[in-house]
Amino acid sequence: MHIVYVTQLAVMNKLIIANWKMNGTRASARALAERAASHRAAGQTILCPPFPLLGTVAEILLGTAARLGAQDCHHEARGAFTGDVSADMLQETGCAYVIAGHSERRRHHGETDALIRDKIRAIHRAGITAIFCLGESLPDREAGKTLEVIGGQLAAGLPETANASNTLIAYEPVWAIGSGFTPSAAEIEAAHTHLAGLSGLKILYGGSVSAENTAALLAVPGVSGALVGGASLNADAFSVILDAAANV
Ligand code: PGA
Repeated sequence: MHIVYVTQLAVMNKLIIANWKMNGTRASARALAERAASHRAAGQTILCPPFPLLGTVAEILLGTAARLGAQDCHHEARGAFTGDVSADMLQETGCAYVIAGHSERRRHHGETDALIRDKIRAIHRAGITAIFCLGESLPDREAGKTLEVIGGQLAAGLPETANASNTLIAYEPVWAIGSGFTPSAAEIEAAHTHLAGLSGLKILYGGSVSAENTAALLAVPGVSGALVGGASLNADAFSVILDAAANV
């Protein structure tokens, strides 16, 4: 009976993932990590700092309920890949999660669905949970192709190694990232229902998540949590976002 209760609680808890992107100093990372780790929603929180700050944040999160994640990795475990970082290295640094397929990686680094699939396989090989990002562009959306495009990204990027305990999906419409715009609740529900039906995985929402809109976004059926960019860099705003997750 007790085990059933704990399992249900875990399923219902909404996750909040902070994607700091290429921002922060050791001082700001420490301050943000200390605040998140001491929040009552720490057990639902994953912080993804840039690579040089992983060690700093890992030290602070050690022994707390909050978890560490990275923003990217290479698809090979080791080798002559100057400037790259492997999932095994991230695992050793304390990462339990790695983001793959973020639209900024797709756009600025030409990452393809096939490469993303290889990265997710590498993340799984290292014993880490993948946070697989996908989402439609504005032209896709305006052409009424949202579900078709995200379904295609899912099919092409999700490896055979994926299961509900090692993979989360983050639905992030490209046009919503950093723009202050979000889809309607009905549009988010439709996208999440589609992706969950195809994958059986938890679907998080990302794109202009803020202190003001988190509670409403987390209340949308099918939303298992949020991937937060800009607002995760402000300790006060992020604390309000964690309050919303704790209060669901
Ligand atoms: P944003 O970024 O919250 O600043 O829109 C989200 C993301 O890119 O993951």
